[in-house]
Amino acid sequence: MTPPTAGPPAPALDVRGLRLTLPGTARPVLDGVDLTVGPGETVALVGESGSGKSLTSRSALGLLPPGATAEGTVRIEGEDVFGASPARLRALRTGTVAMVFQDPRAALNPLRRIGDFVTESVRAAGTVDEKTAAARATELLTEVGLDGSVLRKYPHQVSGGMLQRVVIAAALMGDPALLLADEPTTALDVTTQAEVIALLARLRATFRTGLLFVTHDLDLAAAISDRVYVMYAGRIAETGPADVLFAHPRHPYTAALLASTPRLTTPGGRLAAIPGQPPDPRTAPTGCAFAARCALATDLCREETPQALPDPDRPAHLAACHHSDRLGARPPAAPGAVPAGETAGEGGAVLDA
Ligand SMILES: Nc1ncnc2c1ncn2[C@@H]1O[C@H](COP(=O)(O)OP(=O)(O)O)[C@@H](O)[C@H]1O
Ligand SMILES: [Mg+2]
Repeated sequence: MTPPTAGPPAPALDVRGLRLTLPGTARPVLDGVDLTVGPGETVALVGESGSGKSLTSRSALGLLPPGATAEGTVRIEGEDVFGASPARLRALRTGTVAMVFQDPRAALNPLRRIGDFVTESVRAAGTVDEKTAAARATELLTEVGLDGSVLRKYPHQVSGGMLQRVVIAAALMGDPALLLADEPTTALDVTTQAEVIALLARLRATFRTGLLFVTHDLDLAAAISDRVYVMYAGRIAETGPADVLFAHPRHPYTAALLASTPRLTTPGGRLAAIPGQPPDPRTAPTGCAFAARCALATDLCREETPQALPDPDRPAHLAACHHSDRLGARPPAAPGAVPAGETAGEGGAVLDA
């Protein structure tokens, strides 16, 4: 897959300055997205519904909504996706990159046996014969905790959780460098969800596949990822190593998301929904898109769009917030700011009630 070149291998996915404009919207739905998934790395992309997560992951395959204009670059193992020929794009989509979506049933033809679906991509690529494809399919099903008899069944004969394992096995058939998983467990019950997450974590160790895990669920993101990107209104609000970002968020939006996630330590579920709504893409507010919902917002925030800047102590941890120094592990910069270490548990304090 990766051509032998000097230096470190190319990232599985490298998105630079991705800007996506749709007809009828006043601001780009994706606005300057930078995102990297290293070889074998698991990266979570989190944010509320409508923040642009699915558009970002689909762009990685060159799948853009009708009428969309894209700027910036998307590279898969160094190969430019937007500049790729239709034949190369097909090859990328059936080999180098695989996708797993929320609803496994939507991925399968109900009238065809599961075995046809699992072996489809490698048969289409024409690189292996039927027998090798069938043997590989059985091997991968075992890998995802199913037995080969599933291959002869029809989709309606197996549960949603089993079907999502089938989809993951099928995704691995082409030995992909990158697996894009968009809310892959959202439609599953909690127990099955945990099994699929454990499975993905195990597979990454076995197959060294880069994984972009798209979710609105921060606990899932924390459980599975090496690094996290937090997206808001089509921009990356914050990114960093998962442990650092969740323990010391530097963007008020991340702190608010954490505060609105039900914590095991806090019986009674959801602490607080984030007040307000994400901005309507048909309007074009100036400045920080989160300002209208943020208690730290000042005139500067309403006027100037903040750029993502690194934490001086941790260069891999970036936040696009004019007031990120008032969050995280630092002492409060001013009276009323959130005290150090309390943002995860009481992040609601940074928001208007
Ligand atoms: N095909 C489309 N046509 C028009 N607008 C779209 C289309 N797909 C997504 N959008 C808009 O782009 C924004 C981001 O969508 P999406 O990436 O699906 O968000 P997420 O996956 O984070 O929930 C939303 O405001 C959504 O309404
Ligand atoms: Mg989505």
